[in-house]
Amino acid sequence: MKIEVWQGDITTLAVDAIVNAANESLLGGGGVDGAIHRAAGPQLLAECAALPELRPGVRCPTGEVRATAGYNLPARHVLHTVGPVWNDGTRAEAELLANCYWKSLQLAEKMGLRSIAFPAISCGVFGYPLHQAAQIAATETLAWQRSHREPQRIILVAYNAATFKVYQSALATLGQPGDVAPGLPCPTVEPRPAWLP
Ligand code: APR
Repeated sequence: MKIEVWQGDITTLAVDAIVNAANESLLGGGGVDGAIHRAAGPQLLAECAALPELRPGVRCPTGEVRATAGYNLPARHVLHTVGPVWNDGTRAEAELLANCYWKSLQLAEKMGLRSIAFPAISCGVFGYPLHQAAQIAATETLAWQRSHREPQRIILVAYNAATFKVYQSALATLGQPGDVAPGLPCPTVEPRPAWLP
């Protein structure tokens, strides 16, 4: 197995779970969070709002993850994680970002999921330097795949060609050569069977 890199819109993937780069309120936002809520429909926001608050305005602390259904998405579930806001690298940003990947994979395993797709968590509004974030994404997902059976399909989704290349080279530095061309349909993701709820 390899970590797959795919360029495109994560909301189109028919995987067991897509990961959302959310904020601590889990009440939606811009970027990939906005795209996921638009594609999933209003039931997603309702389920997020019903999740317990740990303190006012915080349903999911930074570095942690919460699961919901996927509703109108082709993905069955959404795992909402909250990446760190980049400051100067001295505020545990790397550890918190690593937690986003690792804890999402732990939750996916616990839920019995076999395929999961990640956006570039923290690399938009939250300002995490792309090369450093890609190294963390590659390190965590490869370490998971090398030590666990499921989820066996792990896809790093790049929204643009520059991110795609950075992911490929991050994986290459860790011993995995890249061979999936950008812009092509994700080759290993099956269409969602019609019988799925
Ligand atoms: N599919 C895949 N990737 C996407 C998509 C999409 N449809 N839309 C955006 N992206 C990419 C961005 O290009 C970026 O590389 O997702 C990455 C993460 O960017 P953001 O969505 O801005 O996430 P983040 O930096 O973690 O900031 C989170 O933004 O919208 C708010 O509620 C969210 O407050 C939270 C903050």
